[in-house]
Amino acid sequence: MIIAVDGPAASGKGTIARALAAHYRLPHLDTGLLYRAVGVAVARAGGDADDEDAAERACNFPDALMDDPELRGAEAGSLASRVARHPRVRAALLARQQAFARQPGGAVLDGRDIGTVIAPDADAKLFVTANIEARTDRRYRELLGKGDRVDREELREDLVRRDERDSSRDAAPLLQSATAGLIDTSDLSVDQAIAAAIAMVERQRISD
Ligand code: CDP
Ligand code: CDP
Repeated sequence: MIIAVDGPAASGKGTIARALAAHYRLPHLDTGLLYRAVGVAVARAGGDADDEDAAERACNFPDALMDDPELRGAEAGSLASRVARHPRVRAALLARQQAFARQPGGAVLDGRDIGTVIAPDADAKLFVTANIEARTDRRYRELLGKGDRVDREELREDLVRRDERDSSRDAAPLLQSATAGLIDTSDLSVDQAIAAAIAMVERQRISD
């Protein structure tokens, strides 16, 4: 069984994807980390994230970079969304994501284009969203918990900018696939969001 989970930044898609993976005993891939790794690799090489050649070269990042705590920060998120606009970067990361999706037994992947590009044939597709205030609050608390000093207003603007860039780009923009089930987590607790996600996956599996 392949489960595709897409949605904007801090919507709760990662939390839902991890919970679904545990529930169905499937491996999980946070595809945003791949783009974050490329973004951080470009910056460390002294390159420009907006330069497609530099970003493409950074797709050969070492595996160990995936575990680097810097990938979880706000700066890496912005760099990721800049390199993610380049078609050659998306192409370079495609095979790895599809191989993960198609492993025997299935997998859960979360990102922006899983249900539309990476695994359009997924057995279940969720589009997870939440309003901007809820998403800002969540990301703010997350970063504070990690000891990062952040300005809430700056964080909010960063999320808005990133959503806008991700939704308006030509290559695999963030959009809700017609066959994806919508989960708005704005007023849901984590447990409620997970329960809603499992119920939706069950409905989609049965209707197949
Ligand atoms: O965790 P958060 O939602 O903040 O971001 P992420 O999922 O780690 O993704 C970081 C950036 O990578 C996004 O803003 C997108 O630009 C890009 N991305 C993408 O284009 N396609 C994906 N499948 C996953 C992430
Ligand atoms: O992966 P994505 O960036 O979409 O979001 P996440 O990392 O799963 O969630 C961001 C934060 O929101 C986490 O700290 C969650 O505990 C929290 N949260 C949530 O995911 N879902 C709710 N319904 C409420 C809070």
